[in-house]
Amino acid sequence: MKTISLINLKGGVGKTTIATNLAYLLTESWGLRVLLIDNDKQGNASRWLEADDKHGTLANILMDGVDVKEVIQHSRYGGLDFIAADMGLIEANYDVIRKEGIRQDSILREAMAEIQDDYDICVVDNPPDINMSVFNVLALTDDVIIVTVLEADSIDGIRKMVQQVEDVKQFNPRLSIKGVLANQYIAYPDSIAFFEEIKKEGLPVFSSRISYATRPAKRGMVAASKNHQSLFEVCPKCRVSRDIMKFAEELLS
Ligand SMILES: Nc1ncnc2c1ncn2[C@@H]1O[C@H](COP(=O)(O)OP(=O)(O)OP(=O)(O)O)[C@@H](O)[C@H]1O
Ligand SMILES: [Mg+2]
Repeated sequence: MKTISLINLKGGVGKTTIATNLAYLLTESWGLRVLLIDNDKQGNASRWLEADDKHGTLANILMDGVDVKEVIQHSRYGGLDFIAADMGLIEANYDVIRKEGIRQDSILREAMAEIQDDYDICVVDNPPDINMSVFNVLALTDDVIIVTVLEADSIDGIRKMVQQVEDVKQFNPRLSIKGVLANQYIAYPDSIAFFEEIKKEGLPVFSSRISYATRPAKRGMVAASKNHQSLFEVCPKCRVSRDIMKFAEELLS
């Protein structure tokens, strides 16, 4: 199982939109066995997948040592399973910090060992934050995708994220930054300058960019979220859907 983490300390850049639609595509278009981990107490990805409250959440794995297999839920898409999150992650993060005599950042990696062969790919939707559950996810991640919007303060956020990844590499040498992915992209001259600056820092950048949604696409996004569907089911021809598809192709190539 390869693990991909979509991440940025900045909120509202599109991590959940891209993680959920990517997970959908990987299973429905590529036929892969996909596990989506919701690592955000906001639980947006979990709500999209209509998580039930019988299975428990990521917090129960981190805090109570509940078996991963008990927590995994099946989605309505045959090849897509998920681990849900909710506000319980706040307590779990405190609890993990207080645990003594164990590697606090390796709880999830150890717990996931038993399901390594059950999935082809694991997609993690991260919070706009760095905390114990994010360190636990980075400890088992292969590829980091930094989702960003092209705003003046975005570069600083990307630098901070890169620093965190570098620190975690000391105990997870498989971890690498696969690329910076621009979302809500509009082709302004400033956008090109932004990319040049990122490249100057030696960071890989995806050539696929996810366009800023036009009004019909935005309506599609709202409908998809409300109806618990992917963008590909609601507006397959929207530019945003086509862009996410191109990004998935680039990621898998
Ligand atoms: N390409 C896009 N064009 C226009 N709107 C977008 C685009 N991508 C995402 N959005 C909208 O931006 C908002 C934030 O998106 P999303 O929840 O995916 O961000 P996030 O990074 O996961 O946020 P958070 O940090 O709070 O978890 C949502 O309303 C979403 O519909
Ligand atoms: Mg989110």
